[in-house]
Amino acid sequence: MRKPLIAGNWKMNGNRGLAAEMLQAMESSLDQTSADVVVCPPFSLLQSVGECFENTPVFLGAQNVHAQLSGAYTGEISAPMLNEMDVKWCIVGHSERRAQFSETDAIVRQKVGILLQNGIQPIMCVGESLEEREAGKHEEVVVEQLKNGLSGLAADDQLRCTIAYEPVWAIGTGKTATPEQANSMHLVIRNQLAELSTEQFATKMRILYGGSVNADNAEELLGQSEIDGALVGGASLKTDQFPGIITAAKG
Ligand code: PGA
Repeated sequence: MRKPLIAGNWKMNGNRGLAAEMLQAMESSLDQTSADVVVCPPFSLLQSVGECFENTPVFLGAQNVHAQLSGAYTGEISAPMLNEMDVKWCIVGHSERRAQFSETDAIVRQKVGILLQNGIQPIMCVGESLEEREAGKHEEVVVEQLKNGLSGLAADDQLRCTIAYEPVWAIGTGKTATPEQANSMHLVIRNQLAELSTEQFATKMRILYGGSVNADNAEELLGQSEIDGALVGGASLKTDQFPGIITAAKG
């Protein structure tokens, strides 16, 4: 049985106060859920959000990392720096970074590697655009991103990765994939993971769905056999939404 994981991606939003408000709002959901809960604030808030979640079950996550360990990379943050902040998870390959910051599959693969070397679990995002889905290429695109992003990883390193399937057309649009569309892509992903390592390892890996998840649609999406959690953007900033998503995650 895979333990569900609910991760909130604050993107370039939030402030010190939000973590405290969210923690208060999440209290009873955290008591009831069997899920791992991760909050990924912007870099500048890692310290204060981390302090707020100290001695709680909520893990601290980051939204990005640089592919190199150190050096002349003005404005960037390395995996050892994240580790020092007690960051346990890090999103890589988000479609916004792929589209706006030229993050290629090769860069994603480097980032996955550097995170694993530094004891941080990657949440690697994959997903097709609307044009790719309409052209019937969605599975091909996702499989390619998956193969490239995990290429050459030892099976036990692969096992430490979480995959987030986020169809680009569903992100921030209020338009979710249907539970059936999402579940069928998750199955494609799991089969590919089995090919990359072994079926036994693939069965243990968590595959999250992301794209307009909210407190109303979470239960149905998370009820699908292959959906092991959610990567939540907009609703992770809302105290009347995120707790309900956590409650909907049953192990
Ligand atoms: P959304 O974002 O929940 O606002 O659609 C999801 C994401 O970008 O991870």
